[in-house]
Amino acid sequence: MGEIYRLARDTDREFVISFTRNTWEWGDYIPQVWNDWLRDPRGRLYVAEVDGKPVAILHAAFLLDNSVWLEGLRVHPEYRRRGIAYRLNKYVIENLINEGYRVFRIAIMHWNTPSINLAKKLGFYEVDTWLSLETKIGNLLAPQLETICFLIEDIEEVWNLIQRTDVYSLSQGLLCLDWKWIKFDKEILKQLLRERKLEIISCRENILGITTPGKTRYKAITLLKAQNLEDLQVIANYLHFVKKLEKRTTIEFVFPEKLRPLATLPKQTIFEQDKIIVMELKV
Ligand SMILES: CC(C)(COP(=O)(O)OP(=O)(O)OC[C@H]1O[C@@H](n2cnc3c(N)ncnc32)[C@H](O)[C@@H]1OP(=O)(O)O)[C@@H](O)C(=O)NCCC(=O)NCCS
Repeated sequence: MGEIYRLARDTDREFVISFTRNTWEWGDYIPQVWNDWLRDPRGRLYVAEVDGKPVAILHAAFLLDNSVWLEGLRVHPEYRRRGIAYRLNKYVIENLINEGYRVFRIAIMHWNTPSINLAKKLGFYEVDTWLSLETKIGNLLAPQLETICFLIEDIEEVWNLIQRTDVYSLSQGLLCLDWKWIKFDKEILKQLLRERKLEIISCRENILGITTPGKTRYKAITLLKAQNLEDLQVIANYLHFVKKLEKRTTIEFVFPEKLRPLATLPKQTIFEQDKIIVMELKV
């Protein structure tokens, strides 16, 4: 029957879940997002079918900056190293170029050599490196600290604050939101705020970080002006005591590697640190 590249269907679910449940030691998030991705009005889920089986998947999300965010690439272990990931990516990228998309981005953990090699082979190049710090939220809670964080909704104020942060200039506006990197400008900020897709955590006239509203399990907090451990404790307090996200056991912060002094924080033993390579393809 050979190889077919196509959009995913409901009937692919069982087979895809069977090989994506344990991609890594800790498992994988694909089973949790499958239903949302299949019905995503702002994205498309593709599969590579070999001999009637959906042996590889790739999700393309259409972001507000008109870029395409590629994520969730998985190839069944028994079908790896046959060029399937390469051809699936090519198929998706070429189709989307024909639809007018010009910028494609991905984020890859620094230890994932197969994926980095694949991205380079496809023509992607590194645009930035970010760090993630993950810890149990209980490690950071400090009820004695001020937790008066507030939400700002005034676009001018938010835009001025964001633009003036070191993170904004270091990353040239390419900020992480819900594990997708998007080029922020005032219009995008307006749209995100209008659609209630952005939560800004500020405290003492500082914009500590941004995140997406809601209780998604793998939510990351993008640090903007947080400077030290105490700022991270304030954010943790805010999420736990004010937003009442008591069920969250872990908390994860992300920021550009170039950012000092935050880059010294991983030395605190409470954090598990990882490095994320953000890559881009422009046509
Ligand atoms: C990464 C992954 C998608 C690659 O799928 P694949 O179908 O085996 O990749 P391909 O056969 O198309 O390989 C294309 C290129 O990728 C690179 N590559 C793939 N596997 C590699 C490996 N094990 N070691 C080094 N490079 C590798 C090579 O550059 C290769 O080109 P080459 O064959 O000319 O050397 C697959 O290993 C996988 O599903 N891994 C687990 C999930 C994952 O890491 N997803 C990506 C998250 S960002």
